[in-house]
Amino acid sequence: MNPFNYISIARGDGFYDRAEETERLVKTLSGGNNIVLLAPRRYGKTSLVFKVMEELEKQGVDCVYFDMMPVYSLESFVELFTSALYRKQTAKEKFLSIVSKLKNIRPKLTFDPAGNADFSIDFNEPRVSVSTVADVLDLPEKMSQDGRKIVVVFDEFQEIRRFGKFGLESLMRSKIQLHHAANYLFLGSKTHLMQDMFMAKNRPFYNSAMVMQLSVLPEADTCRFLQNRFAASDIRIDETMCRHLISRADNIPYYIQLIAAEVWQYMTPDLHDVTKDIVDECFARVIELKHDYYFELFDRFSPAQKRLLQSIARSGENIFSSEYIANNRLVGASSIQKSLAVLIESGLVERSDSTYFIGDPFFRRFLLQ
Ligand SMILES: Nc1ncnc2c1ncn2[C@@H]1O[C@H](COP(=O)(O)OP(=O)(O)OP(=O)(O)O)[C@@H](O)[C@H]1O
Ligand SMILES: [Mg+2]
Repeated sequence: MNPFNYISIARGDGFYDRAEETERLVKTLSGGNNIVLLAPRRYGKTSLVFKVMEELEKQGVDCVYFDMMPVYSLESFVELFTSALYRKQTAKEKFLSIVSKLKNIRPKLTFDPAGNADFSIDFNEPRVSVSTVADVLDLPEKMSQDGRKIVVVFDEFQEIRRFGKFGLESLMRSKIQLHHAANYLFLGSKTHLMQDMFMAKNRPFYNSAMVMQLSVLPEADTCRFLQNRFAASDIRIDETMCRHLISRADNIPYYIQLIAAEVWQYMTPDLHDVTKDIVDECFARVIELKHDYYFELFDRFSPAQKRLLQSIARSGENIFSSEYIANNRLVGASSIQKSLAVLIESGLVERSDSTYFIGDPFFRRFLLQ
């Protein structure tokens, strides 16, 4: 088994570090505050949150994880959210009776041949109304009335924007600010949207949660993790080589594991030491594997967007300055602004303060080639 994993979230002894962040999140949430976790793509937000939920559960806090990504309509929100709450219930009867008292929805249980219950919702209205959604949003608070605290995690929370015209964002804010037994943790992979939601003065969630910015994992600890995992397969990697691998991955946890997994696969029984050539060869192999995909991705953009993408791959600082525009043969600030909006929406370009960067180090290298 490859000891490195980049497919699923990091758990158990595959998860390292983040002790301080875990403690801070646990304390903030169990202390009755809401929090938003911000970090660029693939920094390990979801993995960290699962760790935090594990700790909170140990302290007797019920945690409900809810991913907004599969929510495609308000009906699906009502159904998926109530199902997620139902699954967490130990007192299932009580929960069913609370939901039964809501005006426009009826909980429904169906049983498979093995006797397992499947929870769903019947709607008593042709289109789900604001008041039904409002009722459902109050369920976490109602559920926890026996004194138990509850934490609800909304992952991919930026997807709430799909329901902009319905006003879900304001409704949710107005509901959760009245909750005491229920606290909320928000995170999402589209950082610029999450930042806008929580840090722009004109948005409902402005100032509604503590903001926690997640940074990369400390290099020394990553080196130790890599060395231990390789050592179990009788492979040595010295600290300089670990740091080289980390820098190839731009120190992003996901890409560190991706390169490490590729290196592990590359090693043969008579190869015991990871060298710089091996790391570089494995890095190049991944780009090679992804070449067609990257090419298609790149080809979708207009000439102006392509030029900007390549410029940002070289450097994403002061991109509106006349020097940057001249050096990269771009048209002008307003054209950059338009292209940038498309590139950010695609998720390929990310922003940190006023600097822009390509989130995927392999794609960045592809662009530079
Ligand atoms: N603390 C950690 N220990 C070990 N590996 C980690 C850790 N955090 C993240 N990783 C690595 O990064 C990968 C991505 O982690 P995760 O899905 O939690 O990130 P994310 O920030 O939620 O990503 P996205 O922005 O795509 O939602 C994991 O599969 C794992 O390989
Ligand atoms: Mg995630």
